[in-house]
Amino acid sequence: MLVLMLAACSSDGQDPVDTGPTYYRDVRPILDMSCARCHTDRGLSISFDDPVSVQSLATSIQARTQAGTMPPPAPDPSCADYEGSEALFLSDEDKQTLSDWADAGAPLGDPASAPTDLAPPLTTAPFDVELRGSEPYQPAFDETGNDYRCFVLDAGNDTPTYVTGFEALVDNPRIVHHVVLWSVAPTVTLPEVATGEVGFACDGFGESNWEFFAGWAPGGRPVQFDEGQGMQMRAATRLVLQMHYYESFDGAAAELDQSGYGLHLSDDVTTELFALPLGVEDFEIPAGQANADAQMFVPWGEDWGDVTIVGTFPHMHLLGTGFDFNVQHPDGTNTCVVEMNDWDFHNQQAVQLKEPVRIEGGDIVTVTCNWDNSAANPNQPYEPPRDVVFGEGTGDEMCYAFTYGFSD
Ligand code: HEC
Repeated sequence: MLVLMLAACSSDGQDPVDTGPTYYRDVRPILDMSCARCHTDRGLSISFDDPVSVQSLATSIQARTQAGTMPPPAPDPSCADYEGSEALFLSDEDKQTLSDWADAGAPLGDPASAPTDLAPPLTTAPFDVELRGSEPYQPAFDETGNDYRCFVLDAGNDTPTYVTGFEALVDNPRIVHHVVLWSVAPTVTLPEVATGEVGFACDGFGESNWEFFAGWAPGGRPVQFDEGQGMQMRAATRLVLQMHYYESFDGAAAELDQSGYGLHLSDDVTTELFALPLGVEDFEIPAGQANADAQMFVPWGEDWGDVTIVGTFPHMHLLGTGFDFNVQHPDGTNTCVVEMNDWDFHNQQAVQLKEPVRIEGGDIVTVTCNWDNSAANPNQPYEPPRDVVFGEGTGDEMCYAFTYGFSD
């Protein structure tokens, strides 16, 4: 029906297809590539699923993309090339197309002119297992609007296996701020869930005997390791899903959530990956300081063994302004792993390197975080600014590169 109406509209010879960019032919592919992972019906920001509502947002899309604030900052592919790099940034040409389209009155054009969708898929479903909390949970927000809750997910594997890919299954993105998945050995006692409650309170960043497995924040995409690579999951491992719920709107306290993870499993893995948390916890960011930083500086020991890294998940909180992860080699050369000159808490991405990076004895591995703790930082959570130290709360800070790698 819509198609017929559009055909009728353009029958006067003023076919917009000939005069400039149209929604279906030129704009939709850009939105699918660079915006859809956040702007969907189930996303945390306004949906771009409906053509007519995108049309009404044309000038706002033009303004945000011209200003460079959308898509939000991401690891710069000129530092290292990542799987799906093309979805992280908008080219000047794409910005121009969006702008010309808005200036031309945002014509929809002909649905039949839509090119084949080339955007990286947002889901890798179906999974081998889908794990979720046992029941929907209603967050109990504290006075700062946060609730950290852990749920035990039982993968139910009697024998060891490997996880070759994973994806956060975020049930209620309106209240889920981030998700961390931990692997916990069968010998570790987890707070009893037999009380009839769903999950258990778990503020703090995991426990020292939990191992980082995966992390997700809004905009995060699925991770699929290269052929033959996987992270080991011991027999009877429990995964702990650490949810950070955030009271982002009035009425959020009445919402329910039953998030989880979808896993791809294989017994046939030749390269065992592990997660290496690289970063610093020993820092203080003085109130008011616009240019604070902290650095992990690790001269890699000759007897530590070589490690090849395949991907990483940079993580800071609201005050972050820049993030660098580098490997300096003894010959003076330098391998860039992540470089971000801007940071958005809402756009944290695990990136997978197209070219793995090898760390050998004698290399110096650095992870550097920059923060702006001045009142002028638009993301400043405190008024007036306070001294901020390491911590799991959104108003605390973190500086981590959760890194996937293997040794050989
Ligand atoms: C990683 C997630 C993410 C990606 C990717 C992303 N956005 Fe956004 N966008 C957001 C969030 C969150 C908001 C709401 C907060 C804000 O307004 O900044 C938003 C808001 C907007 C708004 C304001 C909407 C309004 O209500 O007027 C526009 C326009 C927009 N984005 C355009 C885009 C375009 C165009 C792209 C792709 C080129 C894009 N965004 C990619 C997360 C994202």
